[in-house]
Order: sequence, then structure tokens, then C-alpha cells
Amino acid sequence: MVAPYRFPERLAIRPRGPVDGTVRLPGSKSLTNRALLCATLAGGTSTLIGALDAEDTRVMMKCLTRLGGSFAVAGEAVVVAGTGGHLLGSIRALNAAASGTTARFLTAAATLADGPSLIDGTPRMRRRPIGELVAALQALGADVEALGAGGCPPVRVGGGELPGGHTVIDARRSSQFVSAIALAAPYAKQDTSLEFLDGVLVSRPYVESTVEVMRAFGAHVELDANGIRISRGRYQSGSFHVEPDASAAAYPLVAAAITGGSVQVPGFRRGSRQADLGILDVLAAMGCAIEWSDPGFSLTGPADGLTGVDVDMGDMPDAVLAVAVAGAFASGPSRFTNIANLRIKESDRLAALAAELRKLGADTEAGPDRLVVRPRLLHGAEIDTYDDHRMAMAFSLAGLVVPNVVIRDPGCVVKTWPTFFEDMGQLWPEGGNLASLETEAGLMMDRIVVAIDGPGGAGKTTVSKGVAARLDLPHLDTGAFYRAAALVAIRGGIDLDDAEAVIEAVRKTEFDYHDGTMLLGGEAVSEAIRSPGLASGASRVSAIPGVRELLVARQQAWVDQHGGAAVVEGRDIGTVVFPEAPVKIFLTARPEIRAARRAGDLKGEGESLEGIAQELERRDHRDSTRLTSPLRPASDAVEVDTSDLRIDEVIARIVELVTERVGKS
Ligand code: DC
Repeated sequence: MVAPYRFPERLAIRPRGPVDGTVRLPGSKSLTNRALLCATLAGGTSTLIGALDAEDTRVMMKCLTRLGGSFAVAGEAVVVAGTGGHLLGSIRALNAAASGTTARFLTAAATLADGPSLIDGTPRMRRRPIGELVAALQALGADVEALGAGGCPPVRVGGGELPGGHTVIDARRSSQFVSAIALAAPYAKQDTSLEFLDGVLVSRPYVESTVEVMRAFGAHVELDANGIRISRGRYQSGSFHVEPDASAAAYPLVAAAITGGSVQVPGFRRGSRQADLGILDVLAAMGCAIEWSDPGFSLTGPADGLTGVDVDMGDMPDAVLAVAVAGAFASGPSRFTNIANLRIKESDRLAALAAELRKLGADTEAGPDRLVVRPRLLHGAEIDTYDDHRMAMAFSLAGLVVPNVVIRDPGCVVKTWPTFFEDMGQLWPEGGNLASLETEAGLMMDRIVVAIDGPGGAGKTTVSKGVAARLDLPHLDTGAFYRAAALVAIRGGIDLDDAEAVIEAVRKTEFDYHDGTMLLGGEAVSEAIRSPGLASGASRVSAIPGVRELLVARQQAWVDQHGGAAVVEGRDIGTVVFPEAPVKIFLTARPEIRAARRAGDLKGEGESLEGIAQELERRDHRDSTRLTSPLRPASDAVEVDTSDLRIDEVIARIVELVTERVGKS
């Protein structure tokens, strides 16, 4: 998962020379969201490797969780526990936010649930059409109704079953209507077939992607010119490799095209069905050279400038934004046709593109389903992005050539590519990011310290590690420092009541913490410091002010060395070590629960539960009543009682808090 990023309100882009590098692209959003749904409907556990982690896929996972799915993000993969097709209804509205695939796919999938559901989204989503999908589902016998004006969300889905069968579907405005029904159809009561009204299916390659993902999960589905047929059956769980996002590839490709540079794009197979790879043909027609290395390819922009094109973009609407910007740098006019559905995307992209290109000095003309771009001498401008990630990404490309291009609300890129401005910096050998010097500070990841304090046995370590993994932050266990200090004293034969001697011994020793291992002068001591006798010694040495002073300084330095952002657990993190931490959690649990957990930790050490409870109580008392930095919640800490919660629930709650406090600003 991506650590929360903060964005400035305006981001000035720095013009740089020709690009020359490789860019790591995020996973495909459309493949990820399709695979998430198939894996949720499958029985058993699936692993999606290379899945995209961004707002739209989080929205999908959140909604699918409410329908009964279960997800764990593990590095570059998402592990999905399937439902075997048994979805739960969700009366509390499923919030698809601004994610079109989520709203459409779940409208169809929710017909399979065992109860009613309501699907809703942002105000913009409430203006995006869904009527054609609702009508087709009704024709297949499902109980579905669009409640919004003009056949838009919210959508009420009765649930119970999807009878299935044959119907005609109007797929002239969106291919997602077809994909939505196809994805749910294996679980219908009978085989399902959809015939395209007037034989028209817009953005056909997206439906081809749907078919590919469904087949990877074992479904039987046939797509031809006039329709699609899905056999009744069930998905099989397994591993699924998500290709990088072809619509994201458009940005580095156009960066190379307009700067006359070269870019390597790894990870794509030559036969990839991702429609947006069609941008390669468009850019070739504009004068770029493409070479496949399969998997992957490179593109080199012409040294003497791009030529204009006249091209039907019906199959790759998402790529239009980047190529339209390329068009503004060509030697002659370009015409992009068959793009009426750009008007019903995240923003009215046709109008937005025309208006913002005009601000840069280009001459543009937006028709109902076309855009003409006539290049002129370009100049800098403040670009409005309409809460549309693709507007922000496409127009930042213009700023690579034209000085003084400023992107307003650059944070809207979190929808599909949260680290866009940083990742694109890799296109130049010297790295960096796309921002100009004066605005780049706002792009740096916040110094996020998540402080997790609480008594022993409250679940601090497990929870902190989980939160750190989810946020991709380093984790620091400060208790290990006090345990290690006690070990240093005991090994040196020092009386733990001899404060001066203990301080001296601690001062002379090098403490480090690396990947969960405590190191004393380079020696790993994680096991030694977990011996039952040591906890009480740690509690005793931790009451010595001079020891605390030394160790607090080392803990602060550790976080500094790790980029200033970490999940830090202990007793005094929110009060003393990082009083400025934006998120402070105080974990507690009822005494008997804490004792039982400790007993679990010490399995086989021969301690009675009663003995452990007494020892915990003694330690709590000593830790809370000592004069220096006693154990107590910071005034602005959020207290969480973990007694009756599962670990994953506690982790999810904390991650949510962090995202709320320091997420997109
Ligand atoms: O979390 P733990 O059980 O490993 O901690 C061992 C002892 O260290 C605990 O009894 C109190 C002390 N400690 C502290 O005083 N301040 C911290 N930040 C962390 C631990």
C-alpha cells in the first residue's frame, strides 16, 4: 500500500531536457478491478500479483468487503479470500465514490447477493449514466432500479438471484455495462447472452479484457461482433498477474514523444488486450519509433518534431488526454474522433481538454464527439484539473517543454497513480520529480509518525507491525531498547538500582534496530531480550531518567534516519518522543485479556496465568507511576480497547485514521 501523500494546492512543473529512462508503471486499474471481483466470487484464496493500489481499487475492495469479500495487501500483491459466489446484501449504501467500474460492476454483482443493496457515489457519479445496465439486468429478470434522475445512481438492487437468459443491451455509451453483466453472469441461474443494440459496442477492447480476466478465473465466455455469451458455472481461485496499466503508459510515452527523448516501458506482452496500448500506433503515426522487446517496449520521439494525426480514438478514450497534449506540440493540426463518451467520464473531458489546451495557447475546437487541436506558439498557464487525475497527468507533460505550467489540485492523481509526480522523475538519469523547486516541498511525503502507546499485552507490537506494513512505513519497537538496556546492565553485572552505572553502560553501547531485530553493538539480541525475566528489568531501568534521555534521543535519530516517517510503539511516544505525531493511538485491553495474550507469547515458559497477571500489574503500576514519562495517553490520543476486536479490525481502524488525518490534503 502507498503511504499517504500530501500535495500542494498548485504544482509548478519544471521543464527538462529529453527523457531517457525507464518508468515503473502502476498495475492496470481495469484489470485489477475485474480480477478483484472474479476473485471475490470464486471459492478459495486468490493472489493478484502486481495489482494497482490506488483510490479506485481501494473503493472496489471496500465495497466488496461489505459484500463478504476479504482482502489483504501484501507488498505488490493482494490476497483475496473468495466467497464462493455467496455475497451478502448491503443496505447501508455501498459508496463507489468516483469509480465507474465499481458502481457498474457491483450493480450487476449485487443481484447475486442474499439481500438488497444500495449503490451510490459522488455527486459526479450521480450524473453518470447507468440506465442501460439497469434495463438489461431487469430484462434478465433481476430486481434492480436506478433511483437517481435520468437513470443515474443511486441504484437499488433487490438481490436474491440473477435469473439470466437472453437480452439486448444498449452498449453505445459505455462498455462497462456489458462487462458488469458478463462478470456476474457465471453465477446466473442459466446461461446468459447479450446482443449489442444495433451491433454497436463502444470501447470493445475493454470487454475483451473482461473476457480475458474471466477466462483466467475459469469462466466460459464467448465474444463476437454482435454479442457475448456466458455459460453458467463458477470462478476458480488462483494466481493472477496484473499487467501494468496501459492508460498510465500514455504519460511517459508522450513525455518521450514531445521532448524527443527515449523511454523504456517494461511489463507488457505484445499481444496485450489493453486497448490503450493503441496509443503506440497513434504515436508512431506522429513520427515516434517503437521497438518491442516483449515483454516491454521502448519509444523514441522524433528529433525534428511530431506531425499531426487524424485518428479514431473510440477504442482508447482514456488515452485521448495525453495524445491531445502531444497534438499541441505537432507541426500541423490533429483530429481525434469518435470520443463522445469523453463527456461522461470523471469530468466532461472533451470540454476540459479544449479549454485548458486553449489556456496554453493552442487553438482547439470541441465537437459533440471530436476534438481538433491546432498547434500555436505555447506559453505557460495555470491549468484547472476538474478533480480528474488524467487532466493533471496529461497537462503536467506540457510543462516538461513549456515553462511556467502550473497544475492546480495535483493531488487528484491519487485516483489511479498516487506517486505519479515522483515516478515520472525516473525518466531522467538524474531522477527527482516533476515539480519545480519552489513547489516541490509540498510533494514530499509528510513526516508521518504514527505513535502507538499502551500497556503490555494490549496488542501494540502486532498492531504496529500490521499498520506499518499497510502504510509501507518502517516500524520501531522502543520497548526493545529498554529491554536491551536491561540486558546490557545484567550482562555487565551491574545492580539495576545503581542508576549511574546503568546510564554509563547504556551510554557506551551502540543500539540499533533493523527489520524487527534489536542489535547491541552489532549483535542481534532479539531472542535474549524476550526472556521472561527481562521484562521486569526493562521496566526498572526505564524508570531511570538518564537512561530514558539517552534512549529517547536514539529513537528519534532512528526515525530521522528512516526518512522521518514511521510507526513507533512504546509507552511515551505520543507524550515525549514524538509529541508532534499527527496520529496517536493508545491501545488498551482488559487485564485478564492482556494476561492471557502474554501467556500465549510465553508459551511453554512454565509461568502460571496468575503469575503473569501479577507481573503485568506490577509492571503497569511501575510504568504508570514513575516520575519521568509515565505511561499515560497523550491528551490528543485516540484510545482503542482491543479486548473484543480482531487484530485486522484494529489495524484497519488505525490505517483509516492515518489516511483521514494525513491523507490527501
Ligand atoms: O513494550 P515492552 O514490554 O517490550 O517494554 C518493556 C519495558 O520498557 C516496559 O515495561 C516499559 C519500558 N518502556 C518504556 O518505558 N518506554 C517505552 N517507550 C517503551 C518501553
